[in-house]
Amino acid sequence: MRVGPIELSSPVLLAPMAAVTNLPFRTICERFGVGLTITEFLSADALSAGDPKAAAKLTASLGGAPFGVQIYGREDEPMQRAARMAVRIGAALVDINMGCPKKRVVAGVCGSALMQWPAMAQRLVRAVIEAVPAHVPVTVKHRAGWDERHRNAPEFACAMVEAGATMITVHGRTRTQGFSGSADLDIIRRVRAAVPGNVPVVGNGDVVDVDGYRRMRAHTGCDAVMIGRGALGNPWLFRRIREVEQGRPDPGPPSVAERREVFWRHVGLIEACEPLRGRIHELRKAGVWYTKGLRGVDRLRRRMWQIHEPAALIEAVEGFFADRLGSAPATGVSAAGT
Ligand SMILES: Cc1cc2nc3c(=O)[nH]c(=O)nc-3n(C[C@H](O)[C@H](O)[C@H](O)COP(=O)(O)O)c2cc1C
Repeated sequence: MRVGPIELSSPVLLAPMAAVTNLPFRTICERFGVGLTITEFLSADALSAGDPKAAAKLTASLGGAPFGVQIYGREDEPMQRAARMAVRIGAALVDINMGCPKKRVVAGVCGSALMQWPAMAQRLVRAVIEAVPAHVPVTVKHRAGWDERHRNAPEFACAMVEAGATMITVHGRTRTQGFSGSADLDIIRRVRAAVPGNVPVVGNGDVVDVDGYRRMRAHTGCDAVMIGRGALGNPWLFRRIREVEQGRPDPGPPSVAERREVFWRHVGLIEACEPLRGRIHELRKAGVWYTKGLRGVDRLRRRMWQIHEPAALIEAVEGFFADRLGSAPATGVSAAGT
């Protein structure tokens, strides 16, 4: 599938997720064949004011794979400055967040609040397009609508395309739904039908397996699928979908040995990319992710919460894997080659 001049290797995108889609996780997903990763949403105001926390999250892919940067805001100039910063680090596209339901975001008329103000949203799209070179697509991610009475995704998507958006991603829930209920595939189908055929529409919401991917494509006619929560600790999903898409058999879920290998790879990336301060949290998250569903994991989890030192935490997870595999625990397995 194409987004403007960018050819994606697979019609599956990793959803932007705050505090999740950092560089280590994006890199892992790239290894498993995701078509595109996108940074978590970054405040245009914070970026353009030089906030170091926001700047630290503006990261280019390690291996040169295409990546998008997602920004949010409501004023043209900070959005333009943030978009130029994204382009400077090599972003293949700039995505504008018009779906975030958080109170502090919508209170500032950003994120999903923009779905109530299509003219303002159009102005932002035009401003960002003006700020970036012509070869960098500007895309929009939004929801089904603001609430049950205002499910305006089809009209809203068309307005964004009219303003120049090159790709539309729709999460099939309203803002007031947050993450409750289930994603409405019908509204994604209506967006696909409404938007001109040369603009890709990406369906998003509740896809956690190959069947869910197939269902999303078949029911909505969308050009690609974006996966968020279903990819947490499960980057194999991208490989499974890619194989099936290319007419090969589904390789199935990972073995314990594969989980262990990816855990170590993730650890190496965390050590290379994440500041010392947040490292224990990231390691714990990786430990939880890659051991999910395995026998005896509850005990490991309880232990992990009591450990506050990175090396000890890695050792506990490795010991758990070694037990399951009947092998001696490895120490300092290299994560090189990521
Ligand atoms: C922890 C978390 C953080 C999220 N952060 C963002 C974000 O920064 N930008 C965004 O557009 N959506 C964000 N989302 C929404 C996801 O991108 C996606 O639209 C939503 O989770 C539905 O897809 P899923 O069912 O595949 O998870 C976030 C979701 C989660 C669970």
